[in-house]
Amino acid sequence: MKQYELRSDTFTKPTEAMRKAISEAEVGDDVYSEDKSINRLQDMSSEITGKEASLFVPSGTMANLITLYILGGRGNEVLMHEQAHTIHHEVGGAAAIAGCMPISVPGEKGIMKRRVMEPRLKKDDYDIAHTSLIEIENTHNFAGGTYWREEDLKEVRSFADDYNLKIHMDGARLFNAVTASKMSALRISSYVDSVTFCLSKGLGSPVGSMLCGTRDFIDRSKVVRKMIGGGMRQAGVLAAGGIYALENNIDRLKIDHDNCLMLAETLNSLSLFKVDLSLVETNIVFAYTEEGKASEINERLKSKGIMAIATAHNEIRFVTNLMISSVDMEVICDILKEI
Ligand SMILES: Cc1ncc(COP(=O)(O)O)c(C=O)c1O
Repeated sequence: MKQYELRSDTFTKPTEAMRKAISEAEVGDDVYSEDKSINRLQDMSSEITGKEASLFVPSGTMANLITLYILGGRGNEVLMHEQAHTIHHEVGGAAAIAGCMPISVPGEKGIMKRRVMEPRLKKDDYDIAHTSLIEIENTHNFAGGTYWREEDLKEVRSFADDYNLKIHMDGARLFNAVTASKMSALRISSYVDSVTFCLSKGLGSPVGSMLCGTRDFIDRSKVVRKMIGGGMRQAGVLAAGGIYALENNIDRLKIDHDNCLMLAETLNSLSLFKVDLSLVETNIVFAYTEEGKASEINERLKSKGIMAIATAHNEIRFVTNLMISSVDMEVICDILKEI
């Protein structure tokens, strides 16, 4: 029986063409900045995001952690959405390693509005913590893959400027935001001080994320990366996958989005599920089941080859990705209708 992998876009495997690019990679010692493939990937990333410099790091979690360490700072508060990946799925590194306090901010579709952030802001005083940073997530994973509109990016930037705060964008799925918003990565990134994006999710590379920002920030990031054990040596073999992904796998994200909408509409047409179609903007869909039934229904899906994740007792998450073609999606929808 064929398995359709919809648990996450992190399950994507490198294609033959990507493996070929990986096997031909020029490498060197990246701790000494001598890996040509990594240097090229970093230059490409700076150009794509319009930032002065970039750093290749092993994961999105590490990119966020480094930023929290540098721009957040020990004892300071960082405003982030209440469903932020950093709060719920990065093992508490913000507190345990970076030493800062995430302050959770509610907001529809993962968007944080000025009027909601303002009361949570702490200014310098002798007995309160100081707000140093705003972290925004684009697209927003647990809000359903929703993306930031330009007017919201403008609002958060002007708020940050009024209070002298920095903004970090967790753009693990930045190119899904690019695809949905039709804004370039450069334009989206122009509203933030630092941005990270993952090569290992929808872009289909096996490992790695990029962290982009000012030259000074990236120089400091390189030191912190080494300190937390992320200094890699001949990792150009990984960077080659990233280069291939940036050159070949961005335009095809539209297929994932179209597949996701088709999946969401099919799920919503079935009595087992309810989907808020207004939240389906990119490659993630959350389907709601009867209370307490998500695991059982998920097992039924699995027995038919559809791999998803029960994210709560009444919620199943599906993430479309490059291992699912449009034809596969038609088959998946047929299987769902039978179930
Ligand atoms: C929004 C978001 N940020 C960060 C990460 C962390 O990425 P990694 O798994 O590479 O550490 C993820 C992973 O799924 C994510 O969805």
